[in-house]
Amino acid sequence: MSQKKTGGLAGVIAGRTEICTVGKKGAGLTYRGYDIYDLADNASFEEVAHLLHHGCLPNADELSAYRERLKSLRALPSVLKQALEFIPADTHPMDVLRTGCSVLGNLEPEMDFSGQRDAADRLLAAFPSMLLYWHRFHADGKRIETSTDDDSVAGHFLHLLHDVPPSELHRRTLDTSLILYAEHEFNASTFTARVITATLSDFHSAIAGAIGALRGPLHGGANEAAMELIERFDSPEAAEQGVRDMLARKELIMGFGHRVYTSVDPRNSVNKRMSARLAEEVGDERLYAVSEVIERIMWEEKKLFANADFYSASVYHFMGIPTYLFTPIFVCSRITGWSAHVFEQRADNKLIRPGAEYAGPSLRAWVPLAERG
Ligand code: COA
Repeated sequence: MSQKKTGGLAGVIAGRTEICTVGKKGAGLTYRGYDIYDLADNASFEEVAHLLHHGCLPNADELSAYRERLKSLRALPSVLKQALEFIPADTHPMDVLRTGCSVLGNLEPEMDFSGQRDAADRLLAAFPSMLLYWHRFHADGKRIETSTDDDSVAGHFLHLLHDVPPSELHRRTLDTSLILYAEHEFNASTFTARVITATLSDFHSAIAGAIGALRGPLHGGANEAAMELIERFDSPEAAEQGVRDMLARKELIMGFGHRVYTSVDPRNSVNKRMSARLAEEVGDERLYAVSEVIERIMWEEKKLFANADFYSASVYHFMGIPTYLFTPIFVCSRITGWSAHVFEQRADNKLIRPGAEYAGPSLRAWVPLAERG
């Protein structure tokens, strides 16, 4: 197949998975066979994490044991806390998580693959702690205690961020957002994790690589870029003109379009509903209206639809989350999907090493240094 036809590996089936379907005819977006809307409406993020890791929903006892286990893994080793304090305040928090993941991999290395589930649970529990320890240390000058009594990852995150336990509306909203972001088949960061895993490398290397891939604005970084776009406009009218101008200049509008979906991202309606609810709660009269206008123009002009990152931006903003923590929240969620893919890759491993269509110079004669111009 020529490079043109497979640019960015679009449409290429690069492996088998039992974890997730994305836009599959008759199924849509499913995790282990469960429809994303059923999960978003009914499940907790911890149930989804268990589902992705173990292949089945937990029963009540298993769920409560799993919650307790995650709670017990929230504290950070003092060496990691010191390392976080050394990372400058103006560092992007995605880099903080990448480094935090590596440091934890040094302090608590996966000795062999039998430790993979422990490594996965530890990162799931510790990512919010690392992120917010670093954030609060630099933003407020405080060394926070990262063990909280909150039963959920969402509650723990918001509690550490705001210093008080969140309202049930905010906790459930973040919980739902974590469910929507948890897994998405062979996206760029997950595929990165699988490529690293396939060399028989360690768990933390796979996750650190995945964080690096997620950081870019064409992938997870789009939610921060979407927020910057929305905030730029004072009114829906200004947004309409501004976005039309951007499109005329052929600029990318972040939070729109998708490699796999062609007309809708199923996660968008859930995010949009949550954004509307929170806009009402905070009395917003601008950002939600601006978002709706941008969504309309993008469809009218380009037949492009909002993806999962567009309305999650205003959802997070309305909960008082600083924009630079948006993509890291994606990490706190997607660690579940990445882990499931690491387990799956290891269970039936084959080195991932595709070929390339060569487009360089044809064979030529060696030129000694003295004869080169
Ligand atoms: N804004 C403006 N134009 C867009 C666009 C966007 N968000 N997304 C795609 N397009 C246009 C492209 O410019 C291209 O136009 P052309 O054919 O005139 O050159 C066409 O739509 C096809 O896009 P392409 O970049 O080839 O699709 P892709 O499958 O390679 O890219 C994305 C998919 C997600 C990378 C792309 O839609 C994008 O960059 N979106 C913005 C970033 C984003 O939200 N990422 C999060 C994804 S969940």
